[in-house]
Amino acid sequence: MNAPIMTINNLKMYFPVQKSKGKPVYVKAVDGVDLTIYKGEIMGLVGESGSGKSTLAYTVMGMYKPTGGQIIFQGRDISMSSDKRPLSLKKDLQIVFQDPGSSLNPSHNIRQILELPLRVHKIVKREEMERKITQILQMVELSPNYMYKSPASMGGGERQMVSIARALATDPTFIILDEPTSALDVSIQAKIINMLLKLQQEKQLTYLFITHDLSLMRNIATRVAIMYLGKICEMADTVEFFRNPLHPYTRMLLSSIPVVSEEEEALKPKKVISTGEIPSPVNVPPGCSFHLRCPEKTELCFREDPVMLEVSPGHLVRCHAYQKTAGVNVA
Ligand SMILES: Nc1ncnc2c1ncn2[C@@H]1O[C@H](COP(=O)(O)OP(=O)(O)OP(=O)(O)O)[C@@H](O)[C@H]1O
Ligand code: SF4
Ligand SMILES: [Mg+2]
Repeated sequence: MNAPIMTINNLKMYFPVQKSKGKPVYVKAVDGVDLTIYKGEIMGLVGESGSGKSTLAYTVMGMYKPTGGQIIFQGRDISMSSDKRPLSLKKDLQIVFQDPGSSLNPSHNIRQILELPLRVHKIVKREEMERKITQILQMVELSPNYMYKSPASMGGGERQMVSIARALATDPTFIILDEPTSALDVSIQAKIINMLLKLQQEKQLTYLFITHDLSLMRNIATRVAIMYLGKICEMADTVEFFRNPLHPYTRMLLSSIPVVSEEEEALKPKKVISTGEIPSPVNVPPGCSFHLRCPEKTELCFREDPVMLEVSPGHLVRCHAYQKTAGVNVA
């Protein structure tokens, strides 16, 4: 394993949403995340809608000032909002958003869109700008003709290639990909994924790859982490993760994904039936936040939030079933 490039310690991002009896009420979108990401890996972050994946990404990018916790990137503390971060570190940390339509300025052409980060970070002199933009477009397999097109005149796949080009413009070390293909046609998704993998190899990039798609992570991620209601509930190397899923929520997710081979079918956990609804992140139940849906809950799960435990090297799980103090089954 390479050295860590990013270490996230007990990160919290709470949004005030309303007042109840004079007291503020919060959405605990990210609620105590610990995550170390190593240089050159693809860390897959998977979870249902509303689990806090994008909020984690935006907080790491400095778009929100964290409510608590710490983000260390390339050895420096970046737990402040983006405007207070050193420019040299901002250059190294980039993001590609889910929806290329809304993340590209519609009143700018592609040249203007790509020129902005190059100017902000003083990457090239004015006279070298055109050559540099041509080079960046080539990285994402777009011809120089695209320079004077507008985002609106392009297809979704091409727009996402421009978003990737914009992220690459500053020659970063780390890119957060927040569901980079989920808004695209299936026919284009594979092309974008292959391009991202090629770029990752060529430029030795580190990716935090956010997705709903566990099957995709099986094929491309180095490690996989599962997020549920603002917390990571399981994390392991990809091979170990799919061979030996431990958390009841992970098993539930895995049991519902389609498989293409007998080998995969053999590894798939038995169908797990969820017994309840996803609680609101404004009103997370006490104890384990998964207990309302968990078929394996015990009396202890109603009272105590489990802590993360390393059950084998690199395989972490947050569930009382793997702790010595597990109680009586009430499911
Ligand atoms: N600015 C905000 N103010 C208040 N609540 C917010 C804000 N941003 C996100 N939330 C809430 O935080 C929770 C997590 O949202 P987030 O967008 O991070 O989830 P997600 O895992 O990225 O979901 P999806 O898979 O749908 O993109 C949700 O309940 C959402 O409504
Ligand atoms: S701690 Fe209890 S409720 Fe939570 S996942 Fe484990 S068994 Fe289920
Ligand atoms: Mg999201």
